[in-house]
Amino acid sequence: MKKIIITGGAGFIGSHVVRRFVKKYPNYLIVNVDALTYAGNLENLSDIEDEANYVFEKADITNAEQLNVIFDKYGVTDVIHLAAESHVDRSITNPLDFVYTNIIGTVNLLEVAKNKWKDDYSAHLFYHVSTDEVYGALGSEGLFTEETRYDPHSPYSASKASSDHFVRAYQDTYGINVLVSNCSNNYGPYHFPEKLIPLMINNIINNKPLPVYGDGKYTRDWLFVKDHAVAIDLIFHDGKIGDTYNIGGFNEWKNIDLVHLLCEQVDEKFGRPSGTSKQLITFVKDRPGHDRRYAIDAGKINRELGWQPSVTFEQGLSETIDWFLANKTWLENVTSGAYASYYDNQYSNS
Ligand code: NAD
Ligand code: TYD
Repeated sequence: MKKIIITGGAGFIGSHVVRRFVKKYPNYLIVNVDALTYAGNLENLSDIEDEANYVFEKADITNAEQLNVIFDKYGVTDVIHLAAESHVDRSITNPLDFVYTNIIGTVNLLEVAKNKWKDDYSAHLFYHVSTDEVYGALGSEGLFTEETRYDPHSPYSASKASSDHFVRAYQDTYGINVLVSNCSNNYGPYHFPEKLIPLMINNIINNKPLPVYGDGKYTRDWLFVKDHAVAIDLIFHDGKIGDTYNIGGFNEWKNIDLVHLLCEQVDEKFGRPSGTSKQLITFVKDRPGHDRRYAIDAGKINRELGWQPSVTFEQGLSETIDWFLANKTWLENVTSGAYASYYDNQYSNS
């Protein structure tokens, strides 16, 4: 029986991965290890919290003692590592938080796994979830492949790049089985509204300005979070040990075009004239070091594991907007308190 730690399981992507594994694999024990930072929210998992094969452990990945206790308590066999500080804008304001969690936290987790699994590394797997932002920025042409040279530009992507290198170093140096995946921008239910899509939905709902950075022509490749969870499941079970897999949505959008689409979909759902929400769009000062374009070549995971996105962007976005409209209490809960001061600091000088 596998006893899998999923770190960051109370966050956006982690909660979808936890839900998928708990429901699909009743014979696995899923141990959600999460420090419950501002981004972690157990409400994201209220539908599965009573399942027999699920437990939650509040712990900080930078704390080796806490991790040792959890490994011993459950006889942990595998790790799927998603816990991280994940927002680029916050990394620009507080880079050291990203060093502590993303670099030191990852190495700490690797150390604990290395010590606990030393009798037989072949029986265990450490799967590290990373980002396409480690590859840097593209011009108008080209795609990131698994061979693209690392070239991170933000404190966030630099910290994730460093953690990726440590994970691979633990395979090369100590023989731990590792897997790494680097994915593009996710969107979907439970997305914390500091990121572009949920922030815009929240602001449209509240009739607040829609802050588009710079000229709005920055491009991202959007991946529906449930499709990402499927990819993680496939990689965990069938990925080639030591390999890297890129995951993307084959779905590039300039930010301004995406915000237009969002505005149109919300206006339609509210039954109000097209163009109503677009009036809220406000161009604001650019993010420093803003990467122009990300786009993934997801050919390898498609060829080797048969993965491809299951929804079009219009479908995924529609499901996402419907979810936010149906879960206003969730949205109010996560945007009360600390979020308000974050928002004021981030957007006051725009
Ligand atoms: P998130 O910010 O929504 O959630 C992160 C989770 O990690 C939270 O539950 C938080 O409480 C937990 N956490 C933070 N610091 C911790 C610590 N020190 N110890 C234990 N738990 C801690 O992030 P997300 O968007 O769900 O991203 C998950 C992973 O996927 C991250 O590693 C991120 O780098 C990667 N990723 C995200 C995206 C995206 O579009 N969101 C894209 C590519 C890669
Ligand atoms: P974000 O969701 O923060 O993801 P990432 O920076 O990791 O790609 O931002 C996505 C894009 O949207 C990015 O080009 C920055 C831009 N953006 C805005 O224009 N306005 C905003 O308020 C935010 C949060 C992001």
